[in-house]
Amino acid sequence: MSTPNPFANIGFEDFRQLATDETLSKYERIGFPDAYRKDFEATIFSDILQKLTNLQGNKRSVVDIGPGCSDLPIMLIDLCRTHNHKLTLIDNKEMLDLLPSEPFIEKVAALYPNCPEFIAQHQGTMDVILCYSVLHYILIDTAFFRFLDISLSLLAPGGQMLIGDIPNISKRKRFFASDTGIHFHQAFMKTTELPNVAFNRIEHDQIDDAVVFALLQRARTQGFDAYVIPQNPTLPMANRREDILITRP
Ligand SMILES: C[S@@+](CC[C@H](N)C(=O)[O-])C[C@H]1O[C@@H](n2cnc3c(N)ncnc32)[C@H](O)[C@@H]1O
Repeated sequence: MSTPNPFANIGFEDFRQLATDETLSKYERIGFPDAYRKDFEATIFSDILQKLTNLQGNKRSVVDIGPGCSDLPIMLIDLCRTHNHKLTLIDNKEMLDLLPSEPFIEKVAALYPNCPEFIAQHQGTMDVILCYSVLHYILIDTAFFRFLDISLSLLAPGGQMLIGDIPNISKRKRFFASDTGIHFHQAFMKTTELPNVAFNRIEHDQIDDAVVFALLQRARTQGFDAYVIPQNPTLPMANRREDILITRP
């Protein structure tokens, strides 16, 4: 259906090794073949900025869960410096070591949400939480609803959380069952074969519509507004990924 990703099926601990492997590009170190990220990160960042409007304010508290080490966190750091925001970066130590250290940046080396000190200190204070292209690892590595509940407890009134770049296998199936998806697959794979799409089958360890809607409902039940929003269609995986935006009224 697409070129096999040599970085598929990796977890938090594997990212430590990727981070320290100097033979890899900065995109490969965060688990993406270059073609998925190179030349796209400025567009990805502007898509994020359209959704996380609090980033345009001044002196806000911002946390990036799983920033990785490519250009996206650098763009976020630059923006936070310009807007006098405080920025917390949470990832493994090896990944964080690849990012610059500056006075307005706090680095927390942890498998989020296993960082009780940070969580206790920042209850109800965060204006922006960004968690981009990380949810599928959280689904495997951590207590999934605890991740959501704890994150929401960090949001200040008016705060925004973007759980971005979610690979939703239900969306992927809908796309590859469509005429557009079939043409996309055939052109990309240089084949006349149809993509292999199986409905009515449980997909272990994958995010599907049930997971996406469960997150929305659980957030709304706790008094937050929660929405599924599409990605800018020019992003490389917009046909099979989507974002969740949660706001505290
Ligand atoms: C695919 S990369 C995405 C990096 C960045 N957000 C981006 O989109 O460019 C996933 C990153 O999340 C980190 N990560 C995965 N699970 C995590 C967790 N539970 N807590 C903190 N970081 C996590 C990994 O170490 C890795 O740096």
